[in-house]
Amino acid sequence: MRNSTNAAAAGCCTLLPLLLFSVGAGAAGVPPALLVFGDSLVDDGNNNALPSTLAKANYFPYGLDFLGGEATGRFCNGKTVIDALCDLFGLEYLPPFTSTGQDGGASLLGCVNYASAAGGILDETGQHLGERFSLSQQVVYLETNLDTIRSSSQLTIGYEQFLTRSIAVMVLGSNDYINNYLLTPLYDSADKYTPEEFADLLINHYTRQILALYSVGVKKFLLAGVGPLGCIPCMRAFNQGQCVDQVNQLVGLFNQGLRSLVDQLNADHPDAAFTFGNTYDAIQDMIDNPNKYGFTVMDSGCCGLGQNKGQITCLPLLQPCGNRDQYLFWDAYHPTQAANLVLAQRAFNGTQEDVYPFNLQQLADKLIY
Ligand SMILES: *[C@@H]1O[C@H](CO)[C@@H](O)[C@H](O)[C@H]1NC(C)=O
Repeated sequence: MRNSTNAAAAGCCTLLPLLLFSVGAGAAGVPPALLVFGDSLVDDGNNNALPSTLAKANYFPYGLDFLGGEATGRFCNGKTVIDALCDLFGLEYLPPFTSTGQDGGASLLGCVNYASAAGGILDETGQHLGERFSLSQQVVYLETNLDTIRSSSQLTIGYEQFLTRSIAVMVLGSNDYINNYLLTPLYDSADKYTPEEFADLLINHYTRQILALYSVGVKKFLLAGVGPLGCIPCMRAFNQGQCVDQVNQLVGLFNQGLRSLVDQLNADHPDAAFTFGNTYDAIQDMIDNPNKYGFTVMDSGCCGLGQNKGQITCLPLLQPCGNRDQYLFWDAYHPTQAANLVLAQRAFNGTQEDVYPFNLQQLADKLIY
């Protein structure tokens, strides 16, 4: 994959059309890298390295269905959506940014994951849980890695092409609700902003960071919407097992704004491509039509305590459920590997209902100069 014999061609722009059909990072339809920004849905170990955070998943039974059956820091029994996407593209799994020594190094030329549990679009989101990388911090870390990427002898295509053809996968917004807007009185957002104003605020902050990435040369973006947070076990636990409709309506405003933003960004930046991942409807479909997916339990976590196993999330050494592929939710907040595989497949080759206006195969195939 990272073929250093191609290094000599890296500076030779006239060869680029040929390189598109060469092996490895040049293969058509496969991005040279995924650049991941997000929260615990896609953190694959960054928070392990943060000394003062409560948001960690580096203990059993997290990871028990992951490759070696060991806890990596993923907030899941197995693969995250990002792992599943790497499988679909034939890319290696992403090292967490904090494992790369923060100056990148060779691993940067595959995929790097900047996602951090408890992080959000707003800097203050999740602050009661301790240390985490907010979106703006994650973007700064990518920017600090650019020199390493540019000067790497492992770059098999030009630096600009590397960034242009990579796909930024962004999974954010859930914590801005769960660990901010909905958490009064710890946070005052709900006093300061109406639901509409708060969704606008998130979209404005998000836009600024997306454009920062665009301005350093990233041109392909998957922006994942927020799922039906009113239906996660920790919400149901405090509503007699039912989904909390008001919460679903709140995140609906954000999702509408994000979808509109994608239209606007595509119109304003014809040299780039942006797509919206319809996480909400995909998860709602799993709740409404569980048979399609082989699910039997949609309202409870597999690992947790109390009502809906959602009152207390998965703790060290708690005994998880046995039939994990039949569960939509792994713990009080996060989907199982089984659900993540479905989400990734839909993002990869789904219809415009799943991912709008391009799926990831189409996004990867797009030629951008
Ligand atoms: C996506 O790919 C899967 C696996 O190859 C296939 O079963 C499915 O029908 C495809 N979906 C669409 C919408 O093309």
